[in-house]
Amino acid sequence: MFDQALASAVRAPSPHNTQPWRFVVEHEVVEVWLDRERVLGVADPHGREARLACGAAALNLQISLRANGLAAVVRLLPDPAEPDLVAVIRLDGNEKATAVERRLAEAVFRRHTNRRPLLDKAVPPVVRAALKSAALQEGGQIEYLDASGRYTPVASLVRQAEALQADDDEFRAEAAFWTHREPESPDGVPKVASGPPPHGPGVVSLRASHENQDLPAREYEQEPLLGAVLTRDRGPHAEVRAGMAMQRVLLTATAEGLATSFLSQPFETPRTREALDRLFSGAGQPHTLLRIGYGYPTRLTGRRPVHEVLTHRTTAG
Ligand SMILES: Cc1cc2nc3c(=O)[nH]c(=O)nc-3n(C[C@H](O)[C@H](O)[C@H](O)COP(=O)(O)O)c2cc1C
Repeated sequence: MFDQALASAVRAPSPHNTQPWRFVVEHEVVEVWLDRERVLGVADPHGREARLACGAAALNLQISLRANGLAAVVRLLPDPAEPDLVAVIRLDGNEKATAVERRLAEAVFRRHTNRRPLLDKAVPPVVRAALKSAALQEGGQIEYLDASGRYTPVASLVRQAEALQADDDEFRAEAAFWTHREPESPDGVPKVASGPPPHGPGVVSLRASHENQDLPAREYEQEPLLGAVLTRDRGPHAEVRAGMAMQRVLLTATAEGLATSFLSQPFETPRTREALDRLFSGAGQPHTLLRIGYGYPTRLTGRRPVHEVLTHRTTAG
């Protein structure tokens, strides 16, 4: 019953493709658990990004069920005694799928992180509005930095974080462990999913670990559309929500023919993260930063097969 939904769940994005999730199925319920062993100890010591990834997996699950005519109720962090139980998804009867749900369910298998240069072609207002409503539908928000006046300070924090991380041996070692993998690797980021080294300065800086030095240097777009995913509250619950909002934005963008990638550097060093929090104070809690635009599709990355991350629970009696 959950095969297709679980196959969709594991297509969610996760930091360095760590896939920090496990699923437990019991009767008509699927639980999404955070897998502590796959949380990045240096870049993500509190499991914040891992919770975003689990939220994205939960949304994929829900959308896949809905596209197959199954209604589902989702509860986030339902048990204070089990902080790693991120979401519980319970079947709730039948409901005819909408065209949007079917489109998004299909986009799950095409969405990927595109680290290549994008075209200098603006995202039209109607599409920007569609991505905004996608975030709102999941209880989050997307703020476009060109519209809010926070573009320049955020871009500068991305560069500051990048410089701090380049000087941090532990950070570099962790990134090196998860990147430059072979194309068929079931986790981590393969070299084919990296981008060419940038030719000349630009707003976007790829992480050094995501540069493919085998490719000739290329110029990146000058002013990519940058969107910050925000929630009103902070803390673990807000992080899972933000992951769901982020994923609905990414799927909507994919369905609209857009390419997307992430700029997480400033969230991963304490100093730049505090500066980000201050910069957005009053607007909401920032969780992640998305780069959105038009580009040519790149390669999908691997995933561990569902059976490796799934347990069936049978209750006696
Ligand atoms: C919370 C989060 C943060 C991420 N941060 C970055 C980042 O800073 N740079 C980057 O290139 N990719 C980033 N990614 C993308 C992952 O590397 C990507 O999702 C993973 O490698 C799987 O590949 P796919 O998205 O193409 O399926 C992030 C993903 C998530 C969920």
